[in-house]
Amino acid sequence: MINQYIQEKQNEINPLIKDECQSLNLPERLKQPLIYAVEAGGKRLRPILMMASFEAFQPKSTDKIIHPALALEMIHTYSLIHDDLPAMDDDDFRRGRYTIHKAYDDATAILIGDGLLTYAFQVVSRSNQLEAEEKIYVLQQLSQASGLEGMIAGQFLDLQSENQNLQEEELNNIHQLKTGQLIRVAIKIGAYLGGATPPQIEALDEFGRYLGLVFQIQDDILDVKGNKDDIGKPVGSDEEKNKSTYPKVLGLNQTNEIKKHYMQQAKKKYDDARINQPRLLELLQIFGERTS
Ligand code: IPE
Ligand code: IPE
Ligand code: MG
Ligand code: MG
Ligand code: MG
Repeated sequence: MINQYIQEKQNEINPLIKDECQSLNLPERLKQPLIYAVEAGGKRLRPILMMASFEAFQPKSTDKIIHPALALEMIHTYSLIHDDLPAMDDDDFRRGRYTIHKAYDDATAILIGDGLLTYAFQVVSRSNQLEAEEKIYVLQQLSQASGLEGMIAGQFLDLQSENQNLQEEELNNIHQLKTGQLIRVAIKIGAYLGGATPPQIEALDEFGRYLGLVFQIQDDILDVKGNKDDIGKPVGSDEEKNKSTYPKVLGLNQTNEIKKHYMQQAKKKYDDARINQPRLLELLQIFGERTS
């Protein structure tokens, strides 16, 4: 059931994100890598999460959530393009094909990343589905989560932690920042625009905090024992760069235990939110047990 839901949402998101980029008036040499970047696929889990969170409160119409959802996927896609650059994780494959800097060059990858990040805010600010106040909320939340105090700090600390022996607590902080922030904000924006009460938003925000950790822990696990064709990116990249990851700090067995523990914590927070829709819980399961 949840897999069908994910597929339906992917089918909705994919043409929309491509259309948004296709509609831009750009030199062909710039548009080509942009389209390459947005049509490479990817699971689209963050916009799907945002939509599921919105639909938990507004099951009938999804119009209001579509622009924030597209914007979030643009920000995520930019973060991956930059994350793969030689100056960062230096990876050649992503989403089953060459990374942008490999298929084109570093400057193109930097600029396409910059472009997607900026365009995300344009897409929200000109949305015809949102009230002015809602736009401000979405822009504030997205910029905070993806910005200096959020994902950027996380990415910085991640790079600094190469060749270091980190404590679990420090690693937890990095994961919450570099990955958790975008996942958490997906849930929060969805709930807010859907009309959740402040206590519900607070409980779901905590749910999102655990969900973000679970997602990055599973990413670390897949970097050790995933399948390259399934994950669409190299296996063993973290080890090669001597990254600080959960398997490195705790070993695989304990990593699995801690993941299960965070999944249980997430479930508790979900229960606190008192919503009658299991989709977010089903997504928790997917986030924790995915193989791609
Ligand atoms: C990969 O995210 C980067 C992390 C934050 C772990 P995803 O696993 O969601 O990547 P795509 O979007 O499906 O390619
Ligand atoms: C990436 O974490 C987090 C981002 C903000 C992009 P990773 O570096 O582990 O992501 P992958 O494994 O390259 O997708
Ligand atoms: Mg990285
Ligand atoms: Mg990486
Ligand atoms: Mg990784």
